[in-house]
Amino acid sequence: MLFKRDKPMDERTLDHLAESAADLIFRSKKIVAFTGAGVSTESGIPDFRSPGGIWDRFDPDDFTYQKFVGSADARRKQWQLLWKDRLTETVQPNPAHYAIAELDRRGKLDCVITQNVDSLHQTAGVPDDKVLELHGSMRRVLCLQCGRRYPMAEIKKRLYDGEEVPGCEACHGILKPDVVLFGEALPDAVFSEAAFRAEHCDLFIVVGSSLVVYPAAQLPAYAADSGATLIIINLSETPMDRQASILIRAKAGEAMTRIMQKLAKKMNG
Ligand code: APR
Repeated sequence: MLFKRDKPMDERTLDHLAESAADLIFRSKKIVAFTGAGVSTESGIPDFRSPGGIWDRFDPDDFTYQKFVGSADARRKQWQLLWKDRLTETVQPNPAHYAIAELDRRGKLDCVITQNVDSLHQTAGVPDDKVLELHGSMRRVLCLQCGRRYPMAEIKKRLYDGEEVPGCEACHGILKPDVVLFGEALPDAVFSEAAFRAEHCDLFIVVGSSLVVYPAAQLPAYAADSGATLIIINLSETPMDRQASILIRAKAGEAMTRIMQKLAKKMNG
């Protein structure tokens, strides 16, 4: 399933909507930012469902949990295609990540709920305890047999030294990045905390997600159903567009930067 990108909106419309979004943020106390792969594309990490994205080039069926544990060849493929090059250490936050971190510095951010596993929100300055990583994180690798954990940097070195399917040094078990694969359940505690936060915020801002992967995609609806105002910043349409009070068809970096500039004027008086 690929989503063609809508035409980004014109300058005047963007400016007007950024003003309205800044006004909503100014008047809100508990903001949840909900992010997907689209918040990291300007950092050079391809998303999944845009033309040219990951699922435009690879078949998601090859990347399920069952296949990963069932076949060394599937593990080789996942390590090589999904992980080895996607998250090199050189990947840096972009203006959208920094804008969300500024929301936190301004005392506006309740938390970030992210589907991403790149830890760029933390790198941009959002405290770890304010980032709910629904799909896990690439910072950690764990052994599915003995539970031993490894820092990803250590495993990456082994990959770059030519090891194709890294195994556990202690028990030779299967090593898997601590990310949720298709067919694998989300960590319960994280999802229920995210649902609670969505249901108790006053403003829910979606940045860069197609909102088609469940259960994560339920969260904007939980927020709206609990009375929160919804803002969506996304280059293509989402199933929640009609419920958004403000819908911005623009690149996350540009939209968020403009919103934060307008917020700064309101907050600094
Ligand atoms: N600015 C704004 N929107 C963007 C940008 C950008 N710079 N770049 C991409 N987008 C939009 C795309 O138009 C698309 O609608 O971001 C959205 C990204 O959607 P997906 O690629 O589907 O990513 P995501 O929503 O995070 O997918 C959820 O699916 O494959 C699984 O586990 C994977 O966490 C991922 C989940």
